[in-house]
Order: sequence, then structure tokens, then C-alpha cells
Amino acid sequence: MPRKPIVGGNWKCNPKTLEEAQKLIGEWKNQVPLDKRKIDVFACPMMPHLLKVKLPMEKLGISACAQNCSKTGEGAFTGEVSAAQLKDARVQWTLLGHSERRTKYGETDEEVAEKVSQALAAGLKVVLAIGELLDEREASKTDEVNERMLKPVVAKVKEEDWSRIVIAYEPVWAIGTGKVATPEQAEETHAAIRAYMAKAVSEDVAEKVRIQYGGSVTVDNCAELIKKPNIDGFLVGGASLKASFMEIVQKST
Ligand code: G3P
Repeated sequence: MPRKPIVGGNWKCNPKTLEEAQKLIGEWKNQVPLDKRKIDVFACPMMPHLLKVKLPMEKLGISACAQNCSKTGEGAFTGEVSAAQLKDARVQWTLLGHSERRTKYGETDEEVAEKVSQALAAGLKVVLAIGELLDEREASKTDEVNERMLKPVVAKVKEEDWSRIVIAYEPVWAIGTGKVATPEQAEETHAAIRAYMAKAVSEDVAEKVRIQYGGSVTVDNCAELIKKPNIDGFLVGGASLKASFMEIVQKST
């Protein structure tokens, strides 16, 4: 059963102004329209922009995705946004475990797993980011790191809820560096992730779970990457802040 491709745009803490965010959505509108029957697309504006651009994005067939959610519920947690509050705001997705959250804000594998649990309990769909550092890749520890990150999530998530999770493999050494993984490198790691999921969860989940590649994806390199059998789409950073993000969507369909 072929997996439906899925492409996401992670805007991170960009652009600076709401006007620029609205302009970008307008530029996407002028591109070739996406076919929702053939591809799922989401975008992750930063929080204040998310609700403002959500409707125009959805009119293009692009789902709104938060970049994070709290590991707790509502209450005295200054600065936090709970999964239930995202769901109440009609946000359907949240990205969790991005390497920048792990490396810059100290999120542990267990905290990410708890956030996944909270998001699923609130009825959200989850993009779960995993990936190794350069020294871990150079020490041939890529699969070990990815499995370490997945293990606490596997322990918390019911088998049927994996239908609401997309895994985003993002080698940290490829994020923002222009050093995209080769199609062979990405495919090898995606296949290893899928093999781990078959062992840790089930063959059925392993076959169905979609695995995005992220890390310096561009209009120029996406076509070769998407040809690989275990690459089901992309989580795009810098290149999602351009009108040509929709070309990446087209080439991934
Ligand atoms: O979440 C996607 C991001 O980490 C990839 O960034 O700029 O290398 O496409 P970039």
C-alpha cells in the first residue's frame, strides 16, 4: 500500500512580521495549486502568526501546525501552550521534538514523549522529529540515537495512535547547513527507522507510518530524495519561507 506523501514547512521563529507571513501565503497562492487527494501539506508558522494565517493557508489545502506544545495541561505554566488549547484553536497538528528544542532548550527524550502523549490525548496529529548530531553520525551511532529518541514514545503511544504520528528524520548536521543528506544516506536511515518500528511496535505500523526527511531540502534536491522508497516527504525549513516551497510540494506529489 503506497503511503501518501506529506510535506511540511517549519518556519521556526520567522518571518519577523505578520505582514511578511501574510505576504508569503499570498505568494504560495500564486503557485500551482496542490492536490489534497495526492499529498498532505502542513506549515508551522510561529504562534502569533499561526492563527492569523491559518484560514488563508487552509484555503490552499495547507494544514496549520504548531511548532511545539506543553508537556503539561492548562494552569500556572507561564509561556506554555497546552495541546488542548491548540485543539480548541482548531490547530490540527503539532511538531514535537525538533532538534532545536532538544539542543537549545534542553528537551529530553522523555519530555518529548510526554508531549506526544499530551498531543494525542488532545486529539492532535503529531510530527515527531528525531535525528543525530554530526559526531554521532561520524561515530556510526545514527540508528542508536534515533531508536533512543523513539523508545520512550513507543512506550507511551497506543499502537492505533501511530496513525496520527508522522516521523521526521532530521540529521542535525544537515539542518540549516546546506549539507543535505544524500538520497542513499537518508534512505538507509529511514529504512532503519522503519525496521525499528516493525520490531518495537508492529509490521503494520512500520509499513504505514510516514517518515519525512528534513535538513537542507530545496527545490533542487527534493526530486531525487522523494524517489527513495522509505522517504515519504519532507520537513522543510529555510526553503519553506519562499514562494518556491510549493514547487517542493509539486515535486513530491
Ligand atoms: O524542521 C525543518 C528544519 O529543521 C530543516 O531546516 O533550513 O535545513 O530546511 P532547513
